[in-house]
Amino acid sequence: MALAVRFHDQQHTIDASHSFFDDTLAGLSASPKWASPKYFYDLRGSQLFDQICVQPEYYPTRTEEAILERAADDIAAIAGRDATLIELGSGASRKVRLLLESMHPSHYLGIDISKEFLLDSTRRLAADYPWLDVHAACADFSHAMTLPEALDDARPVAFFPGSSIGNFDPAAAEAFLLGLHALLPPGSGLLVGVDLVKDKDVLEAAYNDSAGVTAAFNLNLLERIRHELGADLDPARFSHRAFFNEEQSRIEMHLVSDMPQVANLGGKRIAFQAGETIHTENSYKYSVEGFQQLAARAGFSVRALWTDANDYFSVHYLERT
Ligand code: AVJ
Repeated sequence: MALAVRFHDQQHTIDASHSFFDDTLAGLSASPKWASPKYFYDLRGSQLFDQICVQPEYYPTRTEEAILERAADDIAAIAGRDATLIELGSGASRKVRLLLESMHPSHYLGIDISKEFLLDSTRRLAADYPWLDVHAACADFSHAMTLPEALDDARPVAFFPGSSIGNFDPAAAEAFLLGLHALLPPGSGLLVGVDLVKDKDVLEAAYNDSAGVTAAFNLNLLERIRHELGADLDPARFSHRAFFNEEQSRIEMHLVSDMPQVANLGGKRIAFQAGETIHTENSYKYSVEGFQQLAARAGFSVRALWTDANDYFSVHYLERT
């Protein structure tokens, strides 16, 4: 079964290293400095993210998994058998396993920006579920996408777990859902996991785990910039910082320059003051109502909603209208 995955390369990924350089140069030349969180996920970054997911402070993964386990039969009843399950940002393709037995889709398409990781995890999925037709597409789903022709007659259910939608600001999240609305035929499902607003201490602990895995994940971006873009940045001269911005309802992650320093990126001089930060990630937290209103504006109606007993996390079954 090891070679049963059909791989589809999306055009714009061919340019990926080019945009990594352009985006990084733009971000580090700006004031305040920024970097895009999508570049966290090289192989090492994807592995570190997997480690974040099992840290005791990082509640989203285990909370969402418990919700999915409990909801799997209801989800299957809404989706029906033989759907095409499309996972956005499939990563290790672990969560989808909670749905496969009950839903019994005919096809699975995993979409992820990290190619090695994607191929490895979809191959394991194909080996473990011999009855499932497994496809993989390496793509940045923040760009426009097309479905592989092989899935033309599919009845799609998109699966977007993990509150990855929280990386977009609310306007971009709405635009992203509008893009999915254009991609999916009417009646398609969208199963989306959304992290909820909660006590600040719980939120901040989740992004400052005591084992330092989130810090390593954040700092790995500097390793990537150094190795892949040839910048003379020293990750040892930066620290991880994460906090909840209540006004914007988002966790912000930054890399703080521990001292005044100058780096060189592609011939351009990048100066840091002591304490100056690179803003590397936003992770927006929603109320259930706030998220459902946003989805409605993008043409998705609510079929079902599940939360955990603490109201830490929500899973929404939306339908493309
Ligand atoms: C994958 C974007 C959902 O925001 O919680 C985890 C990424 N960053 N710890 C999140 C992340 C730091 C994660 N998402």
